[in-house]
Amino acid sequence: MQLQLQHTVAGLALLVPNAVALLRFSCSQLVVERLDPLVTPGVTGSPHVHQIIGGRTSRTTGYVENNNAAAGPSTPRKQNGANTEQTAILYFQARNGTFKRVPQKPNVGFEAANGGMTVYYTPVISGQGQVTAFKPGFRMIVGDPINRAESNVPRQLTFTCLKDPYTRDGETKDFPKQPCPAGIMVNVRFPTCWDGETLDPPDHSSHVAYPASGTFESNGPCPASHPVKIPQLFYEVIFDTTSFNNQADWPEDGSQPFVWSFGDKSANTTTPGYGNHGDYVFGWKGDALQKAMDSNCNINCPELQSQTIQQGNQCSVKDLVGEDIDGWLDELPGGMPVDK
Ligand SMILES: *[C@@H]1O[C@H](CO)[C@@H](O)[C@H](O)[C@H]1NC(C)=O
Ligand SMILES: *[C@@H]1O[C@H](CO)[C@@H](O)[C@H](O)[C@H]1NC(C)=O
Repeated sequence: MQLQLQHTVAGLALLVPNAVALLRFSCSQLVVERLDPLVTPGVTGSPHVHQIIGGRTSRTTGYVENNNAAAGPSTPRKQNGANTEQTAILYFQARNGTFKRVPQKPNVGFEAANGGMTVYYTPVISGQGQVTAFKPGFRMIVGDPINRAESNVPRQLTFTCLKDPYTRDGETKDFPKQPCPAGIMVNVRFPTCWDGETLDPPDHSSHVAYPASGTFESNGPCPASHPVKIPQLFYEVIFDTTSFNNQADWPEDGSQPFVWSFGDKSANTTTPGYGNHGDYVFGWKGDALQKAMDSNCNINCPELQSQTIQQGNQCSVKDLVGEDIDGWLDELPGGMPVDK
C-alpha cells in the first residue's frame, strides 16, 4: 500500500513541479444536494446541486449536522472544524433530453467515498517567503456560475481529459470535446493573494487575486491591491464519464453531452459556457493550518492530527432536500435551465 501511495504521489507531484512541500487530503463526499453553505447559508434548496465535503459542525454556515457524531469530518483532517469545500456536479444529457448524474471517483490509490475530491494546500514554492493562512470567517469563490465568456474564466480553473488516471497535461478552460478514456478531471486553483483585511465580501471573490504576473507556481508577485500571499488551495475532482463515452449517445451535432448542475454546457459548439467554479469556507481549528504551512511538511505532517480516509468515510449527513438527483431526470434539479 505504501508503495502504491508513493507511486500516486509521484504522479500527482507533476502538478506542482517546484513545490517543496504541500498538504494533500483525499476527502469523501458528504452529500450531493441543493445546498450552498457559502452563497445561501441556511436555505434548504439552493438554485443548483453541489457536492460538499469536509465540514460536519457548520450549522452556523447553513450546513447540515453530522448524522454520525462519533465520526470525524469527511476528510483526513481531524482539525477540520467547520471547514467545507464544494463544487458543482456534472450531468450527462442524453439524446432524448433527459439527464443522468455523472458518478465521481477518487484519485488512484485513494478510497474516498463517492469520489469526493483531493484537496491541496501549498505554501510558497521553493521556500521563498511565507504564506499567511486563512483567518476565521474567511470564505471565497473562484469562478462564477453565470459567466459565459472565456475571457472571464479565472486563469487556473480548468478541465483535464484523462487519457489514463495519471494524465496531467492539456488543461482546457472548456469541456473536452472528445470522450475521455479515464474521465474528466476538474482543476480548481484558487487565487493566492489576499487584500489582508476582508474575510468575505458580498461577491465572495474581490478580496483575493491571482499574482500580478506569472503564477503561484512560478512564484509570481502579488499585486499591490492584494499584497498578502495565502496558501494555494487546489481541488481535483474526477468525474467518471466512462459509462457515457459512446459517441452514438452524444448530441447529433457532435457537441459534447455534459452539463454542469447550473445549466452550463460549456460545449462551445452551441454557446460558450465557462461557469466552472469552486467554493471554500475556511474552518480549520485554531492555528493548525498556519503551523502546517510554516513547517513546510510534505503530505505526512506530524504537526497535524489526522485520521484515515476510511475514518473520514464514516462521516455522514442527512439529505435535507430529499429530491431525486440520480435517476434519469426530465430536468436538472431545481429546474435549472440548460444553455441552448
Ligand atoms: C432517455 O435515454 C436514456 C439513455 O439512452 C435512457 O436510459 C432513458 O430511458 C431514456 N428516457 C426516455 C424517457 O426515453
Ligand atoms: C469558442 O467559440 C468562440 C466563438 O465561436 C471561438 O472564438 C473560440 O475559439 C472557441 N473556443 C474553443 C476552445 O473552441
